[in-house]
Amino acid sequence: MINVFINGYGTVGKRVADAVALQKDMRIIGVSKRTPDFDSEQAIKKGFDLYCVEGADVDSFKNKGLETKGYLKDIKDSVDVVIDGAPGKQGAKNMDLYKSLGLNAIFQGGEDASIGSSFNAHTNFSENVGQKYIRVVSCNTTGLARTLGCLNDVNVIKKVKAVMVRRAADPGDNKRGPINAIIPEVKVPSHHGPDLKTVLPVDIETIAVKVPTTLMHLHTIMVDLKKDIDITRDEIISLFDNRSRVILVGKEDGINSTADIMEYAKNLGRNRGDMYEINVWKDSINIKDGTLYYIQAVHQESDIVPENVDAVRAMFDLKGKDESIEITNKALGIL
Ligand SMILES: NC(=O)c1ccc[n+]([C@@H]2O[C@H](COP(=O)([O-])OP(=O)(O)OC[C@H]3O[C@@H](n4cnc5c(N)ncnc54)[C@H](OP(=O)(O)O)[C@@H]3O)[C@@H](O)[C@H]2O)c1
Repeated sequence: MINVFINGYGTVGKRVADAVALQKDMRIIGVSKRTPDFDSEQAIKKGFDLYCVEGADVDSFKNKGLETKGYLKDIKDSVDVVIDGAPGKQGAKNMDLYKSLGLNAIFQGGEDASIGSSFNAHTNFSENVGQKYIRVVSCNTTGLARTLGCLNDVNVIKKVKAVMVRRAADPGDNKRGPINAIIPEVKVPSHHGPDLKTVLPVDIETIAVKVPTTLMHLHTIMVDLKKDIDITRDEIISLFDNRSRVILVGKEDGINSTADIMEYAKNLGRNRGDMYEINVWKDSINIKDGTLYYIQAVHQESDIVPENVDAVRAMFDLKGKDESIEITNKALGIL
């Protein structure tokens, strides 16, 4: 049984905590917050032991009637791994704490790749076996890795170009924008392509824009296929259809937008209405003059959740890739 501490119980941290709690080979030993808000209260109500983020004021929690158990350092001997859910770049600052406590750690995609071994379950599970510090790549990179990983497995990719249409903020975030503009990321290529290469060795360039929505990222992907490879649209459809954590959606289901996907996810009755799978529009899959085109949507808040669970199994060599993915999928009801 692996004891997991979630340092930073925010958008990602609280989802990962719930997912870990569903696994039979790991358990949540504590979660931490900096602010004594409704998430802190609900963490306690769920039965998680609540801790303060290093430097946070215990009294601010006490004053609101929220019982905390101390700080990570107080239970370090009972912790096998910290899953860092701190805001982007804060994870790197937390590294000193983890090192001083002698703790293994799993970071999120807001950290630079240099923080540890980059992870995606389908594409490079085995490279992460036994690693002390792992970084689960970002929601966008995970989305690219899921589908391009399928294509790479059958060795058809010559070069990829992708346009990343990024959501401006998460639904619960009232600080970020834009709310009425489209912001191009003028650094070309965007960081997503290089980030993908940390988990999947493909030739890729990406450009990005930020749009005023909270519901999902959308990727328009163009794959130049290798000339000597003869692959059909139907074979690509079947590759995606047979890969877990990727699902095909389309007109026949009435799914024409990211809003439809998130509504569908809510109907599935999952925790928080999450959509762990990457959704590829079936009708968008087309091959023209040796280039494969497709469009996919990524639920930024949750696609990385099963990846964090698998990263724990890789770190402690608990299971092989396929078995871990299967166990995680089953526990989370992933298609
Ligand atoms: N949100 C997404 O869509 C998404 C998707 C994929 C990856 N990521 C990555 O996941 C990481 C977390 O992002 P998020 O969106 O979950 O952030 P978030 O919603 O802002 O949550 C961050 C959490 O960290 C806590 N925190 C603050 N200072 C901390 C510290 N010094 N040490 C530990 N925890 C601290 C916050 O506590 P309080 O709330 O109590 O102040 C909050 O609970 C980032 O690297 C991000 O890039 C995010």
